[in-house]
Amino acid sequence: MTTKIEDKHLNNKQEQCHSRTVSRIINSLETTEGGGFVVHRSFPTNALLDFDPFLLLDEMGPKYWKPGAAKGAPDHPHRGFETVTYMLEGKFEHKDSRGNSGKLGPGDVQWMTAGAGVIHSEMPEKDFMHRGGKLHAFQLWVNLPQRDKMIKPRYQDVPSAKIPLAQTEDGKVKVKVIAGEALGSSAVIDTRAPIFYLHFTLQPGSKLIQPIPKEYNTFAYVINGEGLFGPAEKQKIAKTGQMVVFDKEGEGVAFSVAATSTNKSALDMLLIGGVPLNEPVARYGPFVMNTNEEVLRAAKDYRNGKMGEITIQ
Ligand code: FE2
Repeated sequence: MTTKIEDKHLNNKQEQCHSRTVSRIINSLETTEGGGFVVHRSFPTNALLDFDPFLLLDEMGPKYWKPGAAKGAPDHPHRGFETVTYMLEGKFEHKDSRGNSGKLGPGDVQWMTAGAGVIHSEMPEKDFMHRGGKLHAFQLWVNLPQRDKMIKPRYQDVPSAKIPLAQTEDGKVKVKVIAGEALGSSAVIDTRAPIFYLHFTLQPGSKLIQPIPKEYNTFAYVINGEGLFGPAEKQKIAKTGQMVVFDKEGEGVAFSVAATSTNKSALDMLLIGGVPLNEPVARYGPFVMNTNEEVLRAAKDYRNGKMGEITIQ
């Protein structure tokens, strides 16, 4: 009798560990943003308008800018969501109409809650602009629930040194925990809604199953290398610049890197997830609200100067 109970328990445990299958692999598209810099956009595109609660994912670069040539996004407004900037290489400078300013270098994260409205500029830092160099960064837009769309703007600047770094015992899998938790480490960033944002690096021949709570929508983005995603019997390959969308059945996502004579590269990837809001999305450029009337109001408030102006030099 005891054995039977134990067996049943074991079977249940194995079922619970089933990892989610891959529902889609989406190629990021090259497009131009801000003052004329190229981004690789995973969404919104015709293939995927949004991925609740996320509204946009852009990879800026990697690109080498000659001295004096780097471009950014001069003064522009946002209302109704959050912008999350994660720098991998290069240096950017942020200024906004709430009087916040900060510099972002490699590994730094800026989590800006635009809420009721903010005008900001995201430009190459002066010295970086002068000298030139390699720029590589990500920007993720996280939607805000209806009840939070008009909250007071908030700005969190998190230097690389404060972002927890965890790894497996053999050191083959490393993760920077920007939001949420992984490999026993928890993030320092405070998010409005339950979200995880993880930057994994896997050496060839390594694999991981990251637990994911049931209600979370989850995707991966391959920054560099080639990975195998999904359960062993249904693995799909994704390469640099591809977004991997997981379905919602299963309590974890599995990913690995083959160790073959032809593959000696590590897999560098983001794993991002959040609880869907399931609310109507009305968006026009930098404004994302629930109704078209609210979007028009946002544009009007911006034109009438209600989102302030940048006064920092
Ligand atoms: Fe922006």
